Amino acid sequence: MIRILGIVGSPRAGGNTERLVAEALKASAEAGAQTEIVRISDKDIKPCDACMSCRKTGECKIKDDLESIFNKMIEADGLILASPVYFGSATPQIKALIDRAGYLSIARNRVFENKVGAPMVVARRAGHNFTFAQLLFFFLHQGMIVPGSTYWSIAFGREKGEVKEDEEGMLTARVLGKKMVWLIAKIKSPS
Ligand SMILES: Cc1cc2nc3c(=O)[nH]c(=O)nc-3n(C[C@H](O)[C@H](O)[C@H](O)COP(=O)(O)O)c2cc1C
Repeated sequence: MIRILGIVGSPRAGGNTERLVAEALKASAEAGAQTEIVRISDKDIKPCDACMSCRKTGECKIKDDLESIFNKMIEADGLILASPVYFGSATPQIKALIDRAGYLSIARNRVFENKVGAPMVVARRAGHNFTFAQLLFFFLHQGMIVPGSTYWSIAFGREKGEVKEDEEGMLTARVLGKKMVWLIAKIKSPS
């Protein structure tokens, strides 16, 4: 079974980032994957405080929702990290997840190595590329494998639901969702 986890880094529930991720996961499910979506909007993820205790214990001493999300990330074969653009950047919520999950992974012998990872970004007008790179840097740092789509998996939208009108953006999501399943299948059973 191929498992794909989509993490929505917007604090706004039911927003454009969630719709874009849902479109990708729907395509992954149609291609045979088991999918799950995690919304950071209903989670509490505090920023890393650089205590470095994870280096010694393999655990994060901050007790919030990070651990349960991290465990889902470990179980998944493929991971989507998605964020809206906030002042040209990824949201503080997804950045907190990246920092803590990234350090924890290193403390546990690089648990994301060779998983498939893909960034997705939504903005009203500008800042997609920088935010896309922020998410991409996590995957590349962690030794993950990044598939492409028909374009970078980004879309435009401001008010909730507007992203649906961006046909090309929604297409990049569907192609990405399918491509992740194709790539994971190749990695798991090379022929
Ligand atoms: C605090 C804040 C900062 C934003 N900064 C940008 C920006 O720099 N560039 C941009 O194009 N849109 C910006 N936006 C608009 C959002 O990226 C846009 O509304 C997006 O669709 C929100 O995604 P969501 O519905 O998943 O929350 C900003 C929105 C907020 C709330």
